[in-house]
Amino acid sequence: MQGLEGVVAAETVLSEVDGQNGRLIIRGHAVEELARHATAESAAHLLLNGFFSDLPNDIGAFARAIGEARQEAFSLLSPQLQGIASLPPVEALRAGLTLLADGNDLATAIRLLAAPAVLTPAIIRLQRGETALAPDPSAGQAADMLRMLTGITPSAASTGALNAYLATVSDHGLNASTFTARVVASTLAGLGSAAVAALSALKGPLHGGAPGPVLDMLKEIGEPDAAEAWLSGALARGERLMGFGHRIYKVRDPRADALKAAIGRLSGVEARTDRLALAERVEAAALAILRQHKPDRALETNVEFYTAVLLDALHFPADSFTCVFAVGRMAGWLAHAREQELTGRLMRPQSRYVGPAVKEAA
Ligand code: ACO
Repeated sequence: MQGLEGVVAAETVLSEVDGQNGRLIIRGHAVEELARHATAESAAHLLLNGFFSDLPNDIGAFARAIGEARQEAFSLLSPQLQGIASLPPVEALRAGLTLLADGNDLATAIRLLAAPAVLTPAIIRLQRGETALAPDPSAGQAADMLRMLTGITPSAASTGALNAYLATVSDHGLNASTFTARVVASTLAGLGSAAVAALSALKGPLHGGAPGPVLDMLKEIGEPDAAEAWLSGALARGERLMGFGHRIYKVRDPRADALKAAIGRLSGVEARTDRLALAERVEAAALAILRQHKPDRALETNVEFYTAVLLDALHFPADSFTCVFAVGRMAGWLAHAREQELTGRLMRPQSRYVGPAVKEAA
């Protein structure tokens, strides 16, 4: 009850999370298919289709509109970048998104898809003491993000891996951040307000804040042979192993394997895949230890575990992982926000009062 387990709070055409069988369907497509073939733009188009009467049918036109919006976001936000980059990356992204004009139209949605892809690499570069790089509106969202991050035109393999990631995380039922987006959207506050609220929910360590700690864990373990002792020690201290366990999945999270396959397809000089072998050994050790530690619970690998390995391979720093998650999940937040807005119904549940009774006057 405290976590609303099993409560159905919305009807959606957007995604189905089948936790018993480890399947994720996003608008009629298995997540494994999207991970192999979709781009950030095609996944967003799939999710937003039918929610805006002026959404271009052509994905190329939609991608160009997002590219132009990246350029506009860079011009608008450049003067503020230095100030917000003093904050931790996810807080800086949150601050950046609040500077955008709000609304309920397609232009607002496109601005919100574009801005995090500009802000994330800009914040990372400024925090490293480098200058922020301007977007290329003619590039795809994933390729442009990688170039704005590293200053180098990325390989097709790196672009493909980031597209696989962004499509894989684009939507996932009524998770905490998407629920938040729907609640805010139901008040007709605007898509920007829904997105900022959703990002605020995402950043918590029990939700989208986990992959940074996963990478910290892999770095601390360092050697495959050190995994078992490190993991047992963490559990003995009462800590949770980041990247494992899920409220809905009682079997392996299908996104973990989709991302692991994407890492396997990565190659080229600019990608760093050396942590994959360590991650596989740590995962195997963690699953074995969790089975002993909680034999009555099905604690399996979740999406965050291989998110950490993939984004590290693409040179995103650990403290920016939640921002990259938000770049992909923005499509789902916006689609759910629009779906909720179009119901025309304010979300207003009830609580049961269990506090003290009114004291009768003596
Ligand atoms: N490591 C160790 N123990 C765990 C873990 C874990 N990763 N996950 C759950 N448990 C234990 C809990 O301590 C609890 O034990 P108890 O019954 O003795 O109190 C039991 O398993 C069930 O825990 P719940 O919190 O009820 O499980 P729930 O399904 O609500 O939690 C959650 C899901 C929050 C994801 C949890 O598994 C967790 O904290 N995982 C680590 C953080 C993480 O990876 N988050 C990313 C999730 S994916 C996403 O949001 C994008």
